[in-house]
Amino acid sequence: MHHILITGGAGFIGSHVVRLFVNKYSEYQIINLDSLTYAGNLTNLKDIEGKSNYKFVKADICDFDVMQRIFTDFQIDSVIHLAAESHVDRSIKDPLAFARTNVMGTLNLLDAARQTWKDFDKQHLFYHISTDEVYGSLEFDDTLFTEETKYDPHSPYSASKASSDHFVRAYYDTYGLPVVISNCSNNYGSFQFPEKLIPLFINNIRHNKLLPVYGKGENVRDWLFVEDHVRAIDLIFHKGKTGDTYNIGGFNEWKNIDLIRVMIKTVDRLLGRKEGESEKLITYVTDRAGHDLRYAIDSSKLKNELGWQPSLQFEEGIEKTVHWYLENQDWLDNVTSGDYLKYYKEMYNY
Ligand code: NAD
Ligand code: TYD
Repeated sequence: MHHILITGGAGFIGSHVVRLFVNKYSEYQIINLDSLTYAGNLTNLKDIEGKSNYKFVKADICDFDVMQRIFTDFQIDSVIHLAAESHVDRSIKDPLAFARTNVMGTLNLLDAARQTWKDFDKQHLFYHISTDEVYGSLEFDDTLFTEETKYDPHSPYSASKASSDHFVRAYYDTYGLPVVISNCSNNYGSFQFPEKLIPLFINNIRHNKLLPVYGKGENVRDWLFVEDHVRAIDLIFHKGKTGDTYNIGGFNEWKNIDLIRVMIKTVDRLLGRKEGESEKLITYVTDRAGHDLRYAIDSSKLKNELGWQPSLQFEEGIEKTVHWYLENQDWLDNVTSGDYLKYYKEMYNY
């Protein structure tokens, strides 16, 4: 029996984590804590909201007193921490918001855990979900990020995540807080906010809107289907070694422009348009400041030690994903109009 606090559970990856844990582990109590920023949306969890082992709490991880109260009130014994500001472009415009949530918010949770748990036993775990972006940028060669790669973040987003990772390790080294960290590559799949490349472009193709490709479209990302990431999180939560770090990635590198062409073909076909017709929407725009050239993850530790590997081929994953966004146009319209935010404003803050 666990009482697990999942932070950021109304966001993209968090909602998939909450769904898996609530459905798979009926003996666990899952407390989904989210402040419902623009990126949090409870309709992502409509299918499980009535389950008896699930509770939603609206709260801000930056509020230390509230975090401490939540740990006590819900007898929290483990944390899966996903709440974060997560979009690089936003971090360039408003870096302080990223330091506040990603650094100070994480520190608040760590300290609430340290103060509430007192004696750390086998039951306790603080699992911090991080990103491959902390490792910086690779050249166009065959090197990969391993768990030993030196941190070298470039964007305010990756710098804030790197800082939070350091605090998590500091709490392990200094206080013996039982922690584990995973650093994952770019995720894609259902319920991703349409500011990120894949859902943004699917939505724009659908509306015949321009597709803003940064720079020459040559940057490389390593894409992983979100449900494969969540399977890895489940495994690491239950079997990961305390104090360790695990890289998660699909060995699936794509140059942005090649990926965009696959998306265009898929959306065109599924909308009954001539395949490739929407290529005319591609528009090269000024590059993102400090744009990392290439990310690529070596996830062999996770494979060798815990037996994880991605289940989906990319072609299958992207087909499923495009299909989901086209089938769920109401969801897309709702989040792009911002209508869902009006309702949440009135919700009770813990
Ligand atoms: P997201 O932006 O979709 O969701 C973030 C969630 O956190 C939202 O529900 C938001 O309301 C909540 N949140 C933000 N600030 C908060 C605060 N102060 N208090 C409480 N809740 C708050 O993000 P995502 O893409 O699902 O990413 C989740 C985590 O996974 C992040 O930590 C991110 O760094 C990490 N990650 C993401 C990716 C990716 O490709 N998306 C890859 C690797 C790691
Ligand atoms: P993004 O989804 O923002 O993820 P990240 O920056 O965390 O990797 O972007 C993925 C890639 O797509 C990245 O190289 C930037 C590029 N990109 C564009 O070319 N145009 C866009 O409008 C967006 C949002 C991203």
